[in-house]
Amino acid sequence: MMEKILVLDFGGQYNQLIARRVRECNVYCEVHTYTKFGVDEIKKFDPRGIILTGGPQSVNSDDFSVDEKIFALDVPILGICFGAQLMAKALSGRVESAPTSEFGRTEIDRIGGSRLLDGVSARSTVWMSHNDRIIDAPRGFKITASTANCPIAAMENPERKLYAVQFHPEVVHTVDGKIIFDNFINLCGCARDWQMKSFAAEKISELRSTIKGRALCALSGGVDSSVAAALMSKAIGKNLTCVFVDHGLLRKNEADEVEAVFKNFDLNFIRVDASKRFLDRLSGVTEPERKRKIIGEEFIRVFEAEAKKIGAVEYLVQGTIYPDVIESGLGKAAVIKSHHNVGGLPDHVDFKAIVEPLRMLFKDEVRAVGRELGLDEKIVSRQPFPGPGLGIRIIGEVTADKIKIVQDADAIFRAELESAGVMSNQYFAALTNMRSVGVMGDGRTYDYAIVLRAVETTDFMTATASKIPWEILSRAADRIVNEVAGVNRVLYDCTSKPPSTIELE
Ligand code: XMP
Repeated sequence: MMEKILVLDFGGQYNQLIARRVRECNVYCEVHTYTKFGVDEIKKFDPRGIILTGGPQSVNSDDFSVDEKIFALDVPILGICFGAQLMAKALSGRVESAPTSEFGRTEIDRIGGSRLLDGVSARSTVWMSHNDRIIDAPRGFKITASTANCPIAAMENPERKLYAVQFHPEVVHTVDGKIIFDNFINLCGCARDWQMKSFAAEKISELRSTIKGRALCALSGGVDSSVAAALMSKAIGKNLTCVFVDHGLLRKNEADEVEAVFKNFDLNFIRVDASKRFLDRLSGVTEPERKRKIIGEEFIRVFEAEAKKIGAVEYLVQGTIYPDVIESGLGKAAVIKSHHNVGGLPDHVDFKAIVEPLRMLFKDEVRAVGRELGLDEKIVSRQPFPGPGLGIRIIGEVTADKIKIVQDADAIFRAELESAGVMSNQYFAALTNMRSVGVMGDGRTYDYAIVLRAVETTDFMTATASKIPWEILSRAADRIVNEVAGVNRVLYDCTSKPPSTIELE
């Protein structure tokens, strides 16, 4: 039996990070929303430990309730922020609205010994984000840390295996966060045997025994769908056909490059030119969520059509990964964007089942599986490219002319960064819907503005703008306005995520 940690999701924005931290300890975990995962489901899931996440609501609000039997399961529980308050309230402690909210970096002072905080400095920087606070710890709990505004910043009852922190150990700003997760995983008695090597072998044998019949894989050339395709081809061999849809929203020359790579693979490869079909459906559409839904839906329709041509195809394989699932509204966290491979699925799909072999993996885990399967490093380490492609890098209506503009500008920016050896995790050009006045030669222009975006990130949940040297930015800008017709202004996006997102739509 694989050891698992349950992350019970109350809708906080950092919940994926909690899951990442647990996986980094080589322990498998899943995130489940509290409304759909009661005590019976928890028992069936059989976790070694449970983490209660942060959340936007107040534990004192009338429209919120949780089954308090969770705390009697005799499984180690770590409550984080809202999860800590929930634990306090459920076990007859007291939670009240704090006179001053704490947001951002703060210092905790440790108080006495603690199993959870063992190894954390006596004074340590943590990340806080809360309005309420615990003012009375439940009976049997010992207070193990405080801050200037928060007398109970951490508490525990080791006999009952219950631990709580008001701050967020999952974010990098909490300097000793990793130690806290390590301690909790040890308190759960985990052997830490979750590895990508075992994942690949187990997944291939599971797919081999469950997928009986022909499958069609949606191949985009990105790391996710390529790894999904490699896993599937190892599992079902020639029963797999990979369909690469050129929706016309790919980067410059990308369709040819993808075809060149996959033509050499030992699988059935079909390239479909569907660009006109996508452009027609996107005509006149400006709203980002609507564009995402249309592109997602159209993808499925193209696959259905291809499947019919191949005949007797029962399964559709997709490279959906865990952040896609979580960001598309798993819990009560606000839906920021619906990713096309999940949120855009139409109600009616003409396949027996959708197979998503990477659905529970984070990006770096997917890359590790890719390497395990011997995929080309160029594919494995490719920067992410969103499913809806340039459709969400063109603000407002998508037209053939705008696609050409953004493709050319993007190719220039990427070439300049790559030749200068700049290491950003994701970098691209996007086309705004802003036109402004410029002067070229002796004439007035009224053209579009391109936005250049380059970010540093480890998990794509948070990101900061890369500090690109000025000479590189200005060379890219000069080249873009000179070489790309229709552009007379180039802007660099300096915002972090949050409050922005990486893509512009
Ligand atoms: P955002 O814009 O949400 O992007 O900060 C985070 C990461 O996700 C990628 N992204 C997508 N990937 N389908 C995908 O497969 C999508 O619909 C999608 N939307 C955004 C984005 O490129 C970035 O790496």
